[in-house]
Amino acid sequence: MKPSEEANDLLGDMLIGVTNFFRDREAFEALERHVLSALMGSGLEKPKRDEVRIWSAGCSTGEEAYSLAILCTEHQKLETNPVKVQVFATDIDERAIATGRAGQYPEAILTDVPPTRLRQYFVKDAQQYKVRKEIREKSSLPSTACCPIRHFLRST
Ligand SMILES: C[S@@+](CC[C@H](N)C(=O)[O-])C[C@H]1O[C@@H](n2cnc3c(N)ncnc32)[C@H](O)[C@@H]1O
Repeated sequence: MKPSEEANDLLGDMLIGVTNFFRDREAFEALERHVLSALMGSGLEKPKRDEVRIWSAGCSTGEEAYSLAILCTEHQKLETNPVKVQVFATDIDERAIATGRAGQYPEAILTDVPPTRLRQYFVKDAQQYKVRKEIREKSSLPSTACCPIRHFLRST
C-alpha cells in the first residue's frame, strides 16, 4: 500500500460520517418556517435577492445538501418570483463525496424521507432511490475534497 493510500485509509477511519436526510428535524423545521421565507422572499413580494447560496460544510454522503435543496425547491414552488438556489457541499472525505455525487441511497432512507417527498424527489431503481435531476442540479458536490472557497469561486 502506498503511503498516500495509507494516509487516506487512516483519515477515513478517523472521520465520523453519520448523516441522514433531514437529520435534526427541529433545525430543518426552523429553517423551513423562519429562515427560508426571509431569505427567499414570500408570497407576492419581489424577493430581495436574485440568488441564494447555501453551504453544507461537512456534507458527508450528501443527504444534508439534498435535504436543503428539497426544502428550497418546495419553497420556490410557493413563490411567484422564485429566487435561484444553489447548495454547495464540501467534505474532507473523498469517498463520502463520491457517494454523495452519485445521489443514490438505500431503501433505509424511507425512515427519514416522508412518502410525498420520496415520490416527488427520488426515482426508485431496483433497491435504491436516486435523487431526481432537478434536485441534483441545485446541489453542487465537488469531484474531490477540494478547498471550499475554491469550489465556491469555481461555481460563480
Ligand atoms: C457527522 S458528519 C455530519 C454530516 C452532515 N453535516 C449532517 O449533519 O448530517 C461530519 C462530516 O464532517 C466531515 N469533516 C470533519 N472534519 C472536516 C474538515 N476539517 N473539513 C471538511 N469536512 C470535515 C466528516 O468527513 C464527516 O463527513
